[in-house]
Amino acid sequence: MEPMEKEQTVTEQPKKRMLSGIQPSGDLHLGNYLGAIKNWADRVNEYECFYFMADMHTITVRQDPAELRKRSLNQLAQYIACGLDPEKNTLFLQSHVPAHAQLGWVLDCYTMFGELSRMTQFKDKSAKHKDNINAGLFTYPALMAADILLYQPDYVPVGEDQKQHVELTRDIAQRFNAIYGDVFKIPEPFIAKTGARIYGLSTPDAKMSKSVPEGCVFLMDDPDTIARKFKRAVTDSDTVNPVHFDRQNKPGVSNLMNIYATVTGETYEQIEAEFEGKGYGVFKPAVGEAVIEHLRPIREEAERLIKDKAYLHQVYEEGAQKASYVAGKTLRKVYKKIGFYQL
Ligand code: TRP
Repeated sequence: MEPMEKEQTVTEQPKKRMLSGIQPSGDLHLGNYLGAIKNWADRVNEYECFYFMADMHTITVRQDPAELRKRSLNQLAQYIACGLDPEKNTLFLQSHVPAHAQLGWVLDCYTMFGELSRMTQFKDKSAKHKDNINAGLFTYPALMAADILLYQPDYVPVGEDQKQHVELTRDIAQRFNAIYGDVFKIPEPFIAKTGARIYGLSTPDAKMSKSVPEGCVFLMDDPDTIARKFKRAVTDSDTVNPVHFDRQNKPGVSNLMNIYATVTGETYEQIEAEFEGKGYGVFKPAVGEAVIEHLRPIREEAERLIKDKAYLHQVYEEGAQKASYVAGKTLRKVYKKIGFYQL
C-alpha cells in the first residue's frame, strides 16, 4: 500500500544562546533576585542558557579559601532554589572548565594594554585595593572575553556595570576574526529593560548592596530579620499622602512599592488604593510580610539543597561536562587558527 504523504515537519529554529557569569563572592539578596534571577527561570523556554559561577574572577581580590569553596556550593543551591532548573540550564563552575584559562591566555595576546587601562572596573578596584593591584585584576576583561566567546552566545545578560566588558569582548572578537576568519560569534549585551531595580532599604538612592547589610535583604535571612529590616526602612515624613509612588520626592516609599508590586503582582494604583489613609506603620510591615512569604519557599528549598551536597556536586559535574564540550570545540578551532601544532 502506498504510504500517505509524509506529514510536513516544521523545522524548528535553533534557540538563541545566552551566557552569563556570576561571582560567588557573597550571599544573594533581594536586589539580585527581583532584578535578575527571577526572570532567568522563564528565559529558558526561549533561549539556550549557560550560567556559571566565576570563581576564577573572584581571586583577583584575596579570598578566604574555605569560604570560597563553601560559597561555590551555597550559591548554586540558591540559584536552583530561585527556579534555575539544572535540567534545562547548563550551570557550572568556571574553574571546572580549563578552556576558560586556556582561551584567556590566548586573548591576553589580542587585548591591548591601553584598552585594559581604560576599564572603569579596573580603575575602581585598583583604587580600592591599593595593596594588591595584581596582573589578574588588570587582565580580567580578557578572561571574561574568553568566558563569553568560548560558548558563541548571541546574548550576554549583564548589569549596566558590565557593559563595558562586553563591548571590549566584541572588539577582541572582531579583531581576532579580522585576522583568522569567522571564529567567534559577536555577542550582544542584553540589558533587561523591565528588570526591577531595587534600592537599599536604608539608602533608597543607592542600589541594594551587601556592603550596606542593614538595608539589604538576603535570600537566606530568617523572617524576623527581614521583618526588622523592613520596619526600619527609610521613608519620609509625609502624613497626608504617605503610600504614593513618586521616585523623585519619595524614593524610599517608591522602592518599597516597587518591591511590593513585584512580589504581589499588584499595580501601583492597586497598592495606593489598598493603603489609602494608612501610614508607614502599616505599610512597611505589610511589605516585609509579603517579602517573607515570597522568599520562604526559596529559603527552605536552598536550605534543603545545601544539605544535599551529593546532588549539588552532581549538578556541577554534569554542567562541567556539557560546558566543556561546547567550549572545547571553540578552543580547538582557535588553537588551529593561530598555528598551535595539533596532535
Ligand atoms: N564580570 C562579571 C561580574 O563581575 C562576572 C563575569 C565573569 C561575567 N565572566 C563573565 C559575566 C562572562 C558575564 C559573562 O559581575
